[in-house]
Amino acid sequence: MTTLVYTVTETLRYRGKVGQWAWVFHRVAGLGTLLFLVLHVIDTSWAAFYPELYAQAIREYQSPLFTIGEFALVACVVYHAFNGLRVALFDWKPAWWGHQARAMLYVVIATVIVLVPVFILMLRHVVNFYQDNEDIAGLDEIVSTMSQFALGFVVIVGAALVLSGLYGLVTRSNHATRLPGRLEASLWGFMRLSGVLILPLVFGHLAIMHVIQGVFDITGGSLTVVGTDAVNASGKAVEFVGARWDYLVAGVAVWRVYDGFLLALALIHGFNGLRYVVNDYARHPIVNRALNWAALFGLVALIVLGTAALLAGVDDTAYKIANEVTFGGQ
Ligand code: HEM
Ligand code: HEM
Repeated sequence: MTTLVYTVTETLRYRGKVGQWAWVFHRVAGLGTLLFLVLHVIDTSWAAFYPELYAQAIREYQSPLFTIGEFALVACVVYHAFNGLRVALFDWKPAWWGHQARAMLYVVIATVIVLVPVFILMLRHVVNFYQDNEDIAGLDEIVSTMSQFALGFVVIVGAALVLSGLYGLVTRSNHATRLPGRLEASLWGFMRLSGVLILPLVFGHLAIMHVIQGVFDITGGSLTVVGTDAVNASGKAVEFVGARWDYLVAGVAVWRVYDGFLLALALIHGFNGLRYVVNDYARHPIVNRALNWAALFGLVALIVLGTAALLAGVDDTAYKIANEVTFGGQ
């Protein structure tokens, strides 16, 4: 905790100029996106396993609070992606380091150029939705769902702290978690490579879910589901996901394959990024070990859950349950 407070105060005090801030925003944007991704993989799995919960999750995504969060999320992803490309490029070509300041300016310009039209298009979906809909999720519903997620985080981190403490007692180990140098170097390279690979996947996913159709069209009755030739006849979110996952091109469920790559790359990249942050701030061996373990557990659990949902898909029982879910008497 002392390390964290020290880092925050020193970051604000240190006059590292634009490079310092580019790094701070990169870190905050990466962590923000990861936080969303954790919730997102859990709630997307509900489309397959708990259709009634998925309906509630999408209802909450369509609330004003999440809509503000959606704009922030898109801004985080776009800035982090462009800045990450800059980092990867200069690590690959150190001879260009003299052009860092100009490259940072290009990152900001590219971010603004992408965000302005995207925000305008997203706003169009938002206005249409709120004009036609009065039954919007209340703050109480959101607080209730989010407090369950928060409880989950507390339990996992708490359990990891206890286990790490016991491990320290038994082994008398007084070291923070350290990976072998070779593995650390491979992960450093993986962060760059995976970043470049995630970029088209995540930009494509965001274009589909925010610009072309948008979060609000997930429950758009009689709309052709984006990227497929199926119509969402029931207007239920579960049918939207089912239609996308069942859409075949030459016998291949293309959106499941797409989501599978996005799932694996974004989770490994994001959790390894989280590990860098943990190792920078949490120096106490028990806390460091616990947070590393909790991150590893989170990564494995989410890959298993996300893959299980992709393999299971949305079956007839899920459609039936989703069709029985009503909100606000509709
Ligand atoms: C509010 C913003 C977003 C919305 C509304 C959204 C919506 C969806 C939907 C409806 C699905 C179901 C499958 C499909 O239709 O392809 C899905 C799956 C997925 N999304 Fe997003 N998405 C958002 C942002 C993101 C971001 C920023 C990422 C990555 C950082 C991401 C990563 C994924 C992954 C990995 C899956 C597959 C999950 C699984 O295997 O269970 N999504 N998303
Ligand atoms: C869209 C394309 C992306 C690119 C090009 C990219 C690039 C990068 C690069 C190069 C780094 C390493 C920075 C360093 O070691 O100094 C990094 C760190 C990180 N990334 Fe990404 N990334 C992308 C997407 C994502 C996504 C979707 C997430 C969340 C799931 C994420 C979360 C993180 C985190 C938490 C860090 C650690 C930040 C730090 O150490 O300060 N990134 N990213």
